[in-house]
Amino acid sequence: MRKKILFLIIIVFSGILVAYSQEPKTILTPKPGPEPRINGAKIFGVRPGSPFLFTIPATGKRPMKYEALNLPAGLKCDPETGQIKGTLNKPGEYLTTFRVSNEVGSSKREFRIVCGDKLALTPHMGWNSWYVWENHVTDKIMRDAADAMVNSGMMDHGYMYVNIDDCWSAKPGATDSTLLVESHDKNGMINSNKKFPDMKALTDYIHLKGLKAGIYTSPGPFTCAGHVAIYGNEEKDIARFVEWGYDFLKYDWCSYSNIGRRDTLPDLQKPYIFISKILKKQKRDIVLNLCQYGMGKVWKWGKEVGGQSWRTADDLGGSFDGIGTALFRDGFDVYSRDSLHLYAGPGGWNDPDYLLLGYLSNWKGKTVPTPLTPDEQYTQVSLWSMVAAPLIFSGDITRLDDFTLSLLTNDEVIEVDQDPLGKPGYRVSKNGNMEVWVRQMEDGSHAVGLFNRGEKEIDVTAYWSDLGISGKQKARDLWRQKEIGGFKDKFTTRVSGHGVVMIRMWPLSEK
Ligand code: GLA
Repeated sequence: MRKKILFLIIIVFSGILVAYSQEPKTILTPKPGPEPRINGAKIFGVRPGSPFLFTIPATGKRPMKYEALNLPAGLKCDPETGQIKGTLNKPGEYLTTFRVSNEVGSSKREFRIVCGDKLALTPHMGWNSWYVWENHVTDKIMRDAADAMVNSGMMDHGYMYVNIDDCWSAKPGATDSTLLVESHDKNGMINSNKKFPDMKALTDYIHLKGLKAGIYTSPGPFTCAGHVAIYGNEEKDIARFVEWGYDFLKYDWCSYSNIGRRDTLPDLQKPYIFISKILKKQKRDIVLNLCQYGMGKVWKWGKEVGGQSWRTADDLGGSFDGIGTALFRDGFDVYSRDSLHLYAGPGGWNDPDYLLLGYLSNWKGKTVPTPLTPDEQYTQVSLWSMVAAPLIFSGDITRLDDFTLSLLTNDEVIEVDQDPLGKPGYRVSKNGNMEVWVRQMEDGSHAVGLFNRGEKEIDVTAYWSDLGISGKQKARDLWRQKEIGGFKDKFTTRVSGHGVVMIRMWPLSEK
């Protein structure tokens, strides 16, 4: 009996301990109001002659009427869906104004369409299947993801790419019979496996919603998961991706090591130069994401070889329990050590990998909550936005709890990521566990991230002398979307362990 009571006490006590040690998931992002608000990118690049698709992202009570004033000839906006479609033939910069109205009111915002040879004028926003569905991704999963991007409202905040990662093609020698298909058809065009019965129908489904579709392959003969890849069939496979209607290609080094060398820069650049030449010939805009884990300091030449983004390090979620360590190492340290902010900008972005929030695969056949603490999750989204990284969520988009959704859809944080000036932020000071990062914004304001890499709560101070600003500044807390007053010379705030406070400051006249 005494043993039983002791056992019970231990159980109750450890329950209390666990409850206390789990950080609360505090939602800071205010819910969008009923009045219309236009979000996401303020600038968009397209090549002459390519099909154009951009959906005006806006929150507010439905139904909503969408207008794009002064659209250049060749483009039309659907008033019910906000989808702008058509083609532009003449290169140039076109200034249009979006107007969105509902029964509560209306709102306007300027939008620049740049028709030329540059794509990805702001970092990509979207979803990728890898970290949650890894090798069991299917057509249905991708369709559900597109539905969820619309129904969760993520699309109204600017998310637009729905990207399949590895595992959509044939896999020779697989035990799963759905992967044992002919790798190519009789015309030598690559086939999808039985999990993807009709790729064209899948991209049609995604496009109908006003979203864009992404695909994945490797320059080698096989992908990292052993599926058939592009080597030796590049022209035809790219033609196939165009025929299927893809808008984004992740090009993952993987088995290319068995084909080419990687001793010199030209070795590392060769497959990317080759593929981007083929992509440029297509009558469809396909954004190219270089995935080669940062080899040869890819940030220095990723843009030159035709990439619109390049992975800066190894897989952030390669080991489930190691995500937290990788976040600090690859996010903060790789970036600062090599001054990565010097190399990215409109048309080419540093990609420190996906947002590892919500439910992820634990690589043992289960989807489980992210191992990142709530503070670390705030840190990831804040840091990614400060450095103008692509915001590609890779957790289960069909299972978004309010907290995860709030992290993904804070429009004032997203505005920092998508700032049209495209100048990535950088670290201006490091003092033990305290780090201060700054990003210059197009309107003359500055976004500032005050990070605490230690486990205990501390005060972090941002000094104007470090930030390169002067005079009185009006500050706004971006996660809470609240004015926090005027400050001079410095700003100090309490920051929880592994957490962040993200603010934006505008100069105030001294009068
Ligand atoms: C590599 C990439 C990942 C993912 C997998 C797929 O590890 O870095 O992002 O694409 O391959 O096999």
